Amino acid sequence: MKEKIAKIKENSIKEINQCNDEKALNEIRVKYLGKKGELTAILRGMGSLTAEERPIIGGLVNEVRDELEAFIQKKEKEFKRKELETRLKTENIDVTEPSKKVTLGSLHPITQIIEEVEEIFLGMGYQIADGPEVEKAIYNFDKLNTPVDHPARDLQDTFYITDDIVLRSQTSPVQARVMEKQKPPIKIICPGTVYRSDSVDATHSPVFHQIEGLVVDKNIAMTDLKGTLEMFAKKCLGENTKIRFRPHHFPFTEPSAEADVSCFVCGGKGCRVCKGEGWIELLGCGMVHPNVLTYCGIDPEEYSGFAFGFGVERIAMAKFGIEDMRLLFENDVRFLKQF
Ligand code: DAH
Repeated sequence: MKEKIAKIKENSIKEINQCNDEKALNEIRVKYLGKKGELTAILRGMGSLTAEERPIIGGLVNEVRDELEAFIQKKEKEFKRKELETRLKTENIDVTEPSKKVTLGSLHPITQIIEEVEEIFLGMGYQIADGPEVEKAIYNFDKLNTPVDHPARDLQDTFYITDDIVLRSQTSPVQARVMEKQKPPIKIICPGTVYRSDSVDATHSPVFHQIEGLVVDKNIAMTDLKGTLEMFAKKCLGENTKIRFRPHHFPFTEPSAEADVSCFVCGGKGCRVCKGEGWIELLGCGMVHPNVLTYCGIDPEEYSGFAFGFGVERIAMAKFGIEDMRLLFENDVRFLKQF
């Protein structure tokens, strides 16, 4: 029996010496000292020993067990220390290393222009209205006095979802939505995204942005429209900006006009931004057509109004000197960082 114990001790010590990680060490512990371990088995079999042998063997087993336990613990500590050493070596932090730069984003040029225009009109007592981008054709066209055979309704210009539903091709349908819901006085602007079936080039994009304006009240006249837009042009593009109106046609206004502003880069002398013209085309506008008022439940005998609409990209491009509209949609941070 003594020899068997000695053999167990010899084997286990050899195995502990050879093992090289905590997992293997644990397996050795189970193999010898566990419930079903080899050393434990000897204690269990003590019944078959004589009374004289029992304390001797028992004492021996306990001695060996304590020795093994102590050795295993020592080995375990060694493994832990080695692990810590490698972690300290591999996970060291160089506190002198320069930190990573945190870059701060900025508002997109389109958003900047929209916010600037909103500020100007809020200051003139306007409210900001909103409408859906997936719009009923009836709002995008019919209520705006644009009959079914009007060329603007053409499949080539408008993205149709169904016969009756389109991606709005202008922010003007918000006019109709507001007039239906709200009694005059109405003073709103509506910035938003619009869609047209245009191919992409330096000055066209199938997705772009407009800002719509609408005022309806008693005794609103063309002079109100002109004064408002002149004020807006000066605030947005500079105090010396001049504005001129040219007759035009829009189905939803009568009379209609297009407004140009004097070039705010060259002051009207002619330069690259205004393409030598001295003037930059800014927006469409006019007095709200009586049909439109009627279609939206407002009596044209009692009320009149003016409306206008312009493209945000065009203003952003002129103001920031951007020559290609595509840059505004590519989201290249090297471009966007400049604004
Ligand atoms: N909706 C027109 C367009 O997209 C712009 C416009 C012209 C809006 C005249 C108006 C307006 O409100 O009165 O070309």
